[in-house]
Amino acid sequence: VEHLLGIKYLQKEDIELIFQTADHFKNVINRPIKKVPSLRDITIANLFFENSTRTKLSFELAEKRLSADTINFASSSSSVTKGETLIDTVNNILSMKVDMVVMRHPNPGAAYFLSQHVDAKIVNAGDGAHEHPTQALLDGFSIREKHGDLKGKKVVIVGDVLHSRVALSNIFLLQKMGAIVKVCGPLTLIPKYISSLGVEVITNLKEALNWCDVAMMLRIQLERQDTKFFPSLREYSMQYGLDKALLDSLDKEITVMHPGPINRGVEITSDVADSKQSIILNQVENGVAIRMAVLYLLAGRIEQ
Ligand code: CP
Repeated sequence: VEHLLGIKYLQKEDIELIFQTADHFKNVINRPIKKVPSLRDITIANLFFENSTRTKLSFELAEKRLSADTINFASSSSSVTKGETLIDTVNNILSMKVDMVVMRHPNPGAAYFLSQHVDAKIVNAGDGAHEHPTQALLDGFSIREKHGDLKGKKVVIVGDVLHSRVALSNIFLLQKMGAIVKVCGPLTLIPKYISSLGVEVITNLKEALNWCDVAMMLRIQLERQDTKFFPSLREYSMQYGLDKALLDSLDKEITVMHPGPINRGVEITSDVADSKQSIILNQVENGVAIRMAVLYLLAGRIEQ
């Protein structure tokens, strides 16, 4: 694999290798001395054309733990605001002897486009509503950590699947690893192509939660909606919000996940987000080890 553009392009064996490498790095970063020299003399540019907290900081920390040199770019404070194109921007950055590019961009396919036009390893840190491969890797890794093998595990992805790159990347990853994936939400927020991916839709939240081992709650992405949001946030939260009473009424104890950022009180209440069934902060913790593994494995192909 030359780049990490999406989970769609990975084989099961690639994902297993990333998980095993992340196991190693998770041990490393739990030691008193967390830094290793693995990426010394490798320079990585983090290009964020869209806001981020977790992904941006987690990549930066992963790079520091691996001893890479890093430069950070936010489009809002750059010459993109003066009209410079994506390819010009990246080629100018690469001329400063940069080896790898981590990029978040609002347009689906932006990471693939870049990989076709510039000479660097590209890591997709989220491209519009398309893919968010490192998020799915850290999610799969977190389920594996909590439940063992992903094979046969039942995962329901709840909410705004239509606008979610997290949902699509997770569907690809979980299916490749042998898990069973269903989605749950109002039909206005479920993409029409979902059945072509072999994913069943459940419209009743309690039925979906009683079926699953793991529930992934998604944020309603108001910033990606081009029509008036339907249903309203209030209606959505009444029908599809997960609260403690619903969680406690289920037939079994399920694991609750959320990629963040959370809209507390909309898709999930605080008492669920902060409950012992929630592994939301474990997901964030695992993001560093997963991103270290991805960068380490991709950099292995850079000619020294
Ligand atoms: N999960 C996630 O991608 O969060 P950020 O948008 O804060 O990076």
